[in-house]
Amino acid sequence: MGPVKKTRSTTKLAVIGAGAVGSTLAFTALARGTARTVALMDVNRAKVDAEVLDLRHGGMFVPQAEVVGSDDVEVCRDADVVVVTAGAKQKPGQSRLDLAEATIGLTRKIVPALVEVAPDAVFVMVTNPVDVVTYAAQQFSGLPHEQVFGSGTVLDSSRLRAALADHCGVATGNVHAYIAGEHGDSEIALWSSARIAGVPLLEWNALPGRAELDDVARERIAREVVESAYRVIAGKGATNYAVGLAATRIVEAVLNDEHRVMPVSTRIQDFHGIGDVCLSLPTLVDSRGATVTVDTPFSKAELEGLRASADHVRAVQRRFGL
Ligand code: 2OP
Repeated sequence: MGPVKKTRSTTKLAVIGAGAVGSTLAFTALARGTARTVALMDVNRAKVDAEVLDLRHGGMFVPQAEVVGSDDVEVCRDADVVVVTAGAKQKPGQSRLDLAEATIGLTRKIVPALVEVAPDAVFVMVTNPVDVVTYAAQQFSGLPHEQVFGSGTVLDSSRLRAALADHCGVATGNVHAYIAGEHGDSEIALWSSARIAGVPLLEWNALPGRAELDDVARERIAREVVESAYRVIAGKGATNYAVGLAATRIVEAVLNDEHRVMPVSTRIQDFHGIGDVCLSLPTLVDSRGATVTVDTPFSKAELEGLRASADHVRAVQRRFGL
């Protein structure tokens, strides 16, 4: 028998950080009717008040919901899900790992305060470098690891699927493919387990008028996925829409106890000998959080890539005493 399903009559989502990502996430959650209450918290009171007003003004056009905001953590009391987006902003040319020091300091301060007011919440970390921040948040929260996880490579996997769909001339929903490892430069595409319309990706024959999905095309697509965020940040200073949608979809998987497999960032203990690090692997997301890592087959090269990614992230953890 599977786990007992929890269904909630009311739902509260707390979003920490009213910047580009946090406010877009609040907007997306409202537009989709994700939660009955959306609470927004930011140290900048004027900014959070303005975002709340703007969001409330659209109330007529979205499913019924309450929007509240404050610079006081109390606004998050009894939340079912807390999403943390607050942190240092990634400047053009900076990698996600360059943000570690500032965001770990913030995580140390904010997470215990959030656990005080919402001890039963599932915590979803979005702030970069998300894998290191997730590891830190698990330590500072004292909560079971499954209750605290990161958005990981859910967004990167969406970028990968969109690029593959575009190349092959099929709908994005026909593509089943994951990015695993760090949400960042060392991430890897899991080609060996990917499928397009049920066909193993590595056996895909191009549709009429379409280019083959050969080694060169796959390499180019994987590189473009890694470079995606840099391109968006260079053009408009931040990424917000796709990450807002990705985080909203994760929140829904928790609130609706969906048992949805998503490549979220969780504590890896022993995956083919890889451990003591937070990384993304296809994982079951339900009302308790990120509960079970799926035993996805890896090719030898993919496993080597994952190991290198783990070593890279662990080195940053260690540098900050985690
Ligand atoms: C993204 O990938 C910057 O992590 C952010 O869009």
